[in-house]
Amino acid sequence: MTAPLIRIEALGKRFQSGGGLFARPRAMMAVRDVTLSVGKGEVLGVVGESGCGKSTLARLVLRLIEPTSGRVTFDGTEITALSPPALRRMRRRMAMVFQDPYSSLDPRYTLADVLAEPFRVQNEPLPANRVEAMLAAVGLPAALAGNHPHQLSGGQRQRVGIARALALRPDFVVLDEPTASLDVSIQAQIIALLADLRDRLGLSYLFISHDLGLVRYFCDRIVVMYLGAVVEVLPDTATAPRHPYTQALMESNFAPDPARRRAIEPLSGEIPSPFALPPGCAFAARCPRASDLCRRQPPALDGDATHPVACFHPL
Ligand SMILES: Nc1ncnc2c1ncn2[C@@H]1O[C@H](COP(=O)(O)OP(=O)(O)OP(=O)(O)O)[C@@H](O)[C@H]1O
Ligand code: SF4
Ligand SMILES: [Mg+2]
Repeated sequence: MTAPLIRIEALGKRFQSGGGLFARPRAMMAVRDVTLSVGKGEVLGVVGESGCGKSTLARLVLRLIEPTSGRVTFDGTEITALSPPALRRMRRRMAMVFQDPYSSLDPRYTLADVLAEPFRVQNEPLPANRVEAMLAAVGLPAALAGNHPHQLSGGQRQRVGIARALALRPDFVVLDEPTASLDVSIQAQIIALLADLRDRLGLSYLFISHDLGLVRYFCDRIVVMYLGAVVEVLPDTATAPRHPYTQALMESNFAPDPARRRAIEPLSGEIPSPFALPPGCAFAARCPRASDLCRRQPPALDGDATHPVACFHPL
């Protein structure tokens, strides 16, 4: 791996929910003790089922929400310790592309307004011809600048979302399921655009998806999350998984018929409630290899290994 641009150390996020007249509030850890780094120019994939904490991790990394524990360092500066003005200056080097281009673009804005906004937030003048250049960079004609988001197709809207993220020329972009709401053919075009932009602009990406097949196609290394914790980091896309959960995800993802993919349950067994995690391995109830040790003690992840696996009996 290249020198890290982002270092995430022992990051945790606790959410409290519920609580009312008769109910006590309940707490859960949406992100549990996550340690990771993203290299310069690297595409780090994060994969896991719905609710496993991918978006929470993404927001923590950009400090859009405050961590309960741990820290994030960006290019040598601890962003979890910055004052609000220093954080705002640092933010120009980081950006996020959201899953749903329909709700992430303000319908009242024209594309020119959308693309000028990052400059307004930073109190910077908009450079001449920048809107046209940004549209061109994501493959959209300059003539669209006066249009509103509802006049565009889903793929075009996501191109605008990408152009907005790149407006201030960041080094690092979090892509939170950027193609999940698009048709498969459009998805391929957006992934090709993202790959091209990475090469041309030397970007680093944190690419979030629940589709392990897509992550394997696009990413350099792959982080697998289960119930808020990292269970495995695949060092490349060719290495076979060693964690039983990754193995199960892989089998469900590579079912040849896409209609069957959704039908296949990765493994039987209940997912534990995040509000009441078992004392041992969180995957034990679904794992064919589970032993007494697994049910008693949580397996640790060796963050320094090239292929870390949090499992007592890996494949
Ligand atoms: N603001 C919040 N308050 C309380 N709980 C939250 C909050 N945001 C997220 N959660 C909970 O934290 C857990 C992780 O949510 P998160 O959105 O990070 O998952 P995800 O992996 O991105 O899921 P998806 O694939 O569906 O987008 C979920 O159980 C969710 O209900
Ligand atoms: S630690 Fe045990 S229960 Fe957990 S994944 Fe490994 S074998 Fe399965
Ligand atoms: Mg999410």
